[in-house]
Amino acid sequence: MPLDHRALSARRLEVTLTDDVLIVHGGTPLQGQIRVRGAKNLVSKAMVAALLGETPSRLFDVPRIRDVEVVRGLLELHGVKVSDGAEDGELVMDPTNVESASTDEINVHAGSSRIPILLCGPLLHRLGHAFIPDLGGCHIGPRPIDFHIKALREFGAVVDKTPEGMHLSAPNGLHGAKLELPYPSVGATEQVLLTAVRAEGVTELRNAAIEPEIIDLICILQKMGAIITVHTDRMIEIQGVPRLYGYEHKPIPDRIEAASWAAAALATRGEIEVIGARQADMMTFLNVYRNIGGELKITDDRVARPGVSGAEGGIKFWHPGTELKAVALETDVHPGFMTDWQQPLVVALTQARGISIVHETVYEQRLGYTEALNSMGATIQVYRDCLGGTPCRFGRRNFMHSAVIAGPSKLHAADLVIPDLRAGFAHLIAALAAEGTSRVYGVNLIKRGYEDFEQKLAALGAHVERP
Ligand code: EPU
Repeated sequence: MPLDHRALSARRLEVTLTDDVLIVHGGTPLQGQIRVRGAKNLVSKAMVAALLGETPSRLFDVPRIRDVEVVRGLLELHGVKVSDGAEDGELVMDPTNVESASTDEINVHAGSSRIPILLCGPLLHRLGHAFIPDLGGCHIGPRPIDFHIKALREFGAVVDKTPEGMHLSAPNGLHGAKLELPYPSVGATEQVLLTAVRAEGVTELRNAAIEPEIIDLICILQKMGAIITVHTDRMIEIQGVPRLYGYEHKPIPDRIEAASWAAAALATRGEIEVIGARQADMMTFLNVYRNIGGELKITDDRVARPGVSGAEGGIKFWHPGTELKAVALETDVHPGFMTDWQQPLVVALTQARGISIVHETVYEQRLGYTEALNSMGATIQVYRDCLGGTPCRFGRRNFMHSAVIAGPSKLHAADLVIPDLRAGFAHLIAALAAEGTSRVYGVNLIKRGYEDFEQKLAALGAHVERP
């Protein structure tokens, strides 16, 4: 499938007409320390899980990002009282009085995030019906929801798709089901978990996703009273229980944000310590980072630092000062190389000597951003073929899903328009690595998933400014 040039041009026009632009004076190595908080892709789901409890939940280390605001708004519309707790980043969610919201009110959130689809099961359990607006999220492929709908129907839900959104009801309640996903989808696995925990009977889910964020969601649900077993071979078994209670939870750290800053350190020839980054969730990334020639040092929690007691650990990432090496990598489901690590790291690969190969097997259209890198002097060619070791679902289907990157290339400044969240961060890194002054349009999109990124850039010594 070709790049959606019409959508890209529309976005260009939309953002270049606003003041949503960051001026980046590139060429300075990023140096310093920043901290990552709870993972965006867990926190938003943990907030949805709070709907299932009969008592309030407390979630800690919640980042101030737009996706959190969207879910907060949706919860509040459904009668959940959401307030900030005493601690910085603490969120208290009281679902005692869950109530229906009007379609118009819910539709205000249409197109803003993918998370609303996960409210189906919890709302069906709490209210017997649900309305889900048109979904948003990044434009990185068609992103269908067929796995979700099929699973919900197997639980006994009646799903009615209309142009305005999706109406659901469960006239006979929800009951456990034997399910198998065609692909280990993160969202569909979460959908099944959030629905099965209170469905009557046992649910078996085969070919489930087992990303660390999913295991953390299972931990939350277990805290709430759920009975979930993760078997070998991607099989998850859930015994439905009649009631669940609130939880207290500190989420896993954001391993996508951590890897994004790691890539920024490499691309700008800098050194960044990411406090909060956790080795166990990033092992595949760390191996690739080392193979490229990047240096890293892992400090566990509680390892004493001079003058700091009970210090929080992290990972320091830095450029070796010598030439980076080209690598071949394939994105995949966990424990493979995450698709969300791909774009920021490709910017670093433009600086490696030789030919790197990237085979994107999770999303069919996640290489469009390479055009912008080429406009800055990179040499990246995209292909329809599966250039990795294994043929994937997208081979022979006309999707440009493999990239060959020849390096090292000297990047020069350019005017850039951010197309989606992760590619957006990649654009930003490229502008920071390039010589000269770039204008990066649409940077507010980065706030969807990166807390305080402008403050963090300032802390790392980046020369950026708003016009
Ligand atoms: N898929 C279907 N049908 C479905 C569901 C998924 O065909 O009903 C396909 C998708 O089109 C895709 C593949 O399955 O090709 C994987 O999609 P998945 O459902 O795993 O992704 P997701 O749940 O929509 C989450 C993250 C993404 C992350 C992916 C993969 C959230 C909110 N989003 O998306 O994160 O890339 O899992 O790990 O958790 C991001 O943070 O920028 C982001 C895009």
